[in-house]
Amino acid sequence: MAPSGNAALWTSSSGRFTVGPAPVPQPGPGELVVRAEAVAVNPVDAVSGLLRHVVYPKLRYRTVIGSDVAGTVLAVGPGVERFQAGDRVLGYAAGQEQHRNSAAEGAFQHQVLLLERLTTPVPQDLATEQAAVLPLAVSTAAAGLFEPDQLGLPLPTADPVDRGQVVLVWGASTSVGANAVQLARAAGYAVIGTASPRNHAFVRSLGAEAVFDYRDDGAARRIVEALADRQLAGTLAFGQGSLTRTLPIVRAATGSGRLASAYPTPATTIRARLERRHGVHVTAIWGGRPTESEVGPAIYRDFLPEALRSGGYQATPTASVVGTGLSAIPDALAELRAGVSARKLVVTLP
Ligand SMILES: NC(=O)c1ccc[n+]([C@@H]2O[C@H](COP(=O)([O-])OP(=O)(O)OC[C@H]3O[C@@H](n4cnc5c(N)ncnc54)[C@H](OP(=O)(O)O)[C@@H]3O)[C@@H](O)[C@H]2O)c1
Repeated sequence: MAPSGNAALWTSSSGRFTVGPAPVPQPGPGELVVRAEAVAVNPVDAVSGLLRHVVYPKLRYRTVIGSDVAGTVLAVGPGVERFQAGDRVLGYAAGQEQHRNSAAEGAFQHQVLLLERLTTPVPQDLATEQAAVLPLAVSTAAAGLFEPDQLGLPLPTADPVDRGQVVLVWGASTSVGANAVQLARAAGYAVIGTASPRNHAFVRSLGAEAVFDYRDDGAARRIVEALADRQLAGTLAFGQGSLTRTLPIVRAATGSGRLASAYPTPATTIRARLERRHGVHVTAIWGGRPTESEVGPAIYRDFLPEALRSGGYQATPTASVVGTGLSAIPDALAELRAGVSARKLVVTLP
């Protein structure tokens, strides 16, 4: 049955938000429409002014932004066999990607069009608001670890072989980092992370063998020591200053020499050129890349459903429900700008 009635948090080109009616999305081939019951906010949703146009230069306004959705399937399009109306799912809302550029696919509305290839069933024992923390964080972590032009590591499995190498996740208590720790473990790598001391136990609980304080000036030396004679399969750099802090480690370690940074800025490109002479290959991650690549379905179709169902993968970090209704989202973005630690801000849409 086709869904009826929709409302959205519209974003203007100047970044102003207004709640209003929105067209009812109709699912095409490979698409589904979901009643969003919980959405999470991300740093990229909180950027405004000129920076928004730098991050999304081609996005057509007015539009609906937001990437993280969990809710219930209302309708499926032709060729969608994994889901049916009534299923609880989480998914990556791809509307801001250049190849989609579609308000119907923004998370911040009651009825969201999702791509089947970026949607995962939510197991019975996982709360909808907790499920909403995953999509952008998982996609970005997976892009950094598995896209061939990033770290290019083998994909995660339920029963990984021990590869005898290490992945460094600098900023492991960020939403993206916490998911990167788990994905790297599921790909067969030992993980060393950095976080504030209050989050060391959290990062260890995700599978990291050692965690260091990123504010400690000696962290780089300690990490190189902790590698012992093992190779560094790759490094992920999350958080302010992370590229500068991780470069000396990659230079000192043996291994792939690959370093993927979550800051896709001109600064990263310049650093990448400078680092080539040291044998370090620096790349900038785009969390939306799996919307088009094989990494998307490898994670959302092949890995996450069973990993979440079995409890082998945690929906992390912890959701903090900070409001209810579309009009609560701008306040959630303001709270996010003030900073969070090992938690994800979620708004419920009852
Ligand atoms: N390129 C892309 O496509 C893409 C996509 C998603 C996110 N990102 C970027 O990736 C980063 C992480 O995003 P997120 O949503 O995961 O962030 P988040 O969860 O909101 O980040 C909060 C965490 O940042 C950690 N942190 C703060 N300063 C740090 C530093 N200097 N070094 C390392 N960690 C630090 C804090 O750790 P403690 O509390 O332990 O101190 C805190 O837990 C952001 O910069 C975001 O803009 C990029």
